[in-house]
Amino acid sequence: MSYAHTEVAQIAAISSNRCIGKDNELPWHISADLQHFKSMTTKQNDGAIQGIVIMGRKTFESMGSKPLPKRVSFIISTQLDYAEQKGLVDKSNAYVVHNLDDALTQAASLAHGAHLDTIWVIGGERCLAMR
Ligand SMILES: NC(=O)c1ccc[n+]([C@@H]2O[C@H](COP(=O)([O-])OP(=O)(O)OC[C@H]3O[C@@H](n4cnc5c(N)ncnc54)[C@H](OP(=O)(O)O)[C@@H]3O)[C@@H](O)[C@H]2O)c1
Repeated sequence: MSYAHTEVAQIAAISSNRCIGKDNELPWHISADLQHFKSMTTKQNDGAIQGIVIMGRKTFESMGSKPLPKRVSFIISTQLDYAEQKGLVDKSNAYVVHNLDDALTQAASLAHGAHLDTIWVIGGERCLAMR
């Protein structure tokens, strides 16, 4: 999918029975997978922003409610006060948005300014379904 001249790509680790998570965690720990995820979503460049990811609120919480290092995280939640709840107001590496369209629009604008050609949608299920 292309969005305002920026590629939108999805990345997910999926088991043979098409599972991506259990009890708000990954059902496995495979460090090579995590390394692959990191290298795909982090581009070595001179800019301060090395990658842009979009994720659902539960995925954010599954990662300890911390933005991913070196990347800018867009977290989708219908909760209007979620940024305040999580201390994310005024952060430059994490933005709470309330629908996927806003996530894509804001992420594309940031990607353009940061000279990044890919926005990564990293889960969970509803984000990967792009709805
Ligand atoms: N295997 C992998 O590659 C991978 C990747 C990522 C995550 N996971 C796993 O997946 C699980 C979490 O995924 P999940 O599918 O349960 O949850 P999720 O998609 O991460 O989060 C769901 C929440 O995100 C918000 N949301 C998502 N899409 C939205 C939209 N279009 N509009 C408005 N709000 C939206 C809502 O938050 P509110 O309820 O706050 O409104 C919704 O309840 C965990 O087990 C995690 O470890 C696996």
